Amino acid sequence: MPQLNETDREIFPVSAGLSDTGDITIGGCAISELATEFGTPLYIYDEDTIRQMCRQFVGGFKEAYERSHVEYSSKAFANPVLAKIIAEEGLNMDVVTGGELVFAKAAGFPAERLNFHGNNKDRGELGEAIDYGIGRITLDSFYEIGLLNEVAGEKGVRQKVLLRVSPSVDPHTHMLTTTGILDSKFGFSIETGAAAEAVEQAMAADNLEVVGLHFHLGSPIFELEPYSQAIDYVLKFAAEMRDAHGLQLKEFNPGGGFAVGYVGEELPLPISAYANEISTAVRSGCDRYGLEEPLLTVEPGRAIVARAGVAVYKVGGIKRIPNVRIYVSVDGGMGDNIRPALYSSEYTVRRAHDPYSEPTETVTVVGKYCESGDYIARDVDLPVLDSEDILCTPTSGAYAVPMASNYNMTTRPAIVMVKDGNARLIRRRETYDDLLATSLV
Ligand SMILES: Cc1ncc(COP(=O)(O)O)c(C=O)c1O
Repeated sequence: MPQLNETDREIFPVSAGLSDTGDITIGGCAISELATEFGTPLYIYDEDTIRQMCRQFVGGFKEAYERSHVEYSSKAFANPVLAKIIAEEGLNMDVVTGGELVFAKAAGFPAERLNFHGNNKDRGELGEAIDYGIGRITLDSFYEIGLLNEVAGEKGVRQKVLLRVSPSVDPHTHMLTTTGILDSKFGFSIETGAAAEAVEQAMAADNLEVVGLHFHLGSPIFELEPYSQAIDYVLKFAAEMRDAHGLQLKEFNPGGGFAVGYVGEELPLPISAYANEISTAVRSGCDRYGLEEPLLTVEPGRAIVARAGVAVYKVGGIKRIPNVRIYVSVDGGMGDNIRPALYSSEYTVRRAHDPYSEPTETVTVVGKYCESGDYIARDVDLPVLDSEDILCTPTSGAYAVPMASNYNMTTRPAIVMVKDGNARLIRRRETYDDLLATSLV
């Protein structure tokens, strides 16, 4: 029985395999057949992988720290079918805009289990969240403290809030996805004294109940040390705020950022390693600063959905520049996955049929958009390709679809969820009518 190679078994969805006919399958469905049925570009999500990641996070953190919650960060991929799975698996969820809240509502996601993040929530969004009965709102600026106090007052609600602080810790990831350093738009800086002032203001606000503190360092984080360093610093701050303003740290949320494996050379630590590091740091910090152990919440986004998703493209033109480069153009690109252009993110690329056949060539897989920076993967080794071949990129389940655009007036791809040999459409491909729908002619 043929099977995926060792690296691919780590980065493709857990249900992926290789059929007798040499086709990569996911959830019992051959990628090439799904491409024929639903067209390309196509995003395939594997339900088994999503559920397995949810269980590993919930179980891993419960084992390390009994009073823990896992909160899926829906910016990684917001979809009502996914939100239902997240709810069934017992996770909480966070949203960062009114739009993400609409998706949570559409799935009937329990309001009490939602947390509303974001560095610039507006009056309307805050009102919509309160009307839905949202569990927590995480405040990120002095403007938001005042605004939420006002909106909650108008609605006769005392809203539970967390304050997002910035611990000035560098998690050594991409500059554009680093969020917890001093020079960041996110969070009240502890270092400058802004966080202490925010605690004082929020605790004095009649319509806010400060239940805890939150921080998020960035993503993806392949190291453990930044988490424990930041946790210690923030718990020390919490103890100072208890003494100065009577803050009770009932809840503590050190964010997300857990890494995933995009390419075989850089595989992440197991979830248990993050769980042990974080829970040990929380326990020892509480002990050191005389705090009661709080409810611990972590917020993985990428690590829940990245491995579950596989992007599928069809090869068009192939351009060979002797002694320079071979460009393989596919029918998607930066419109459906901007991460390579934005963050220089790396992806593994495989041909969906007969993925390991020889001979191979080193090629650069590019998209169809009118930008030289539009590429999927540079210098990847693939079998010698033909136009119309189907390619796939595993670990495409996070931050590709949600960041997709209609650049060059392209339609955004269809999405299917697979399980046990069945594929169901969970988002249809956009049409030209969709493109015209919001324009006045
Ligand atoms: C506040 C917050 N929490 C959690 C996350 C999720 O990060 P990741 O998807 O890397 O786990 C993000 C990502 O930007 C974030 O901003």
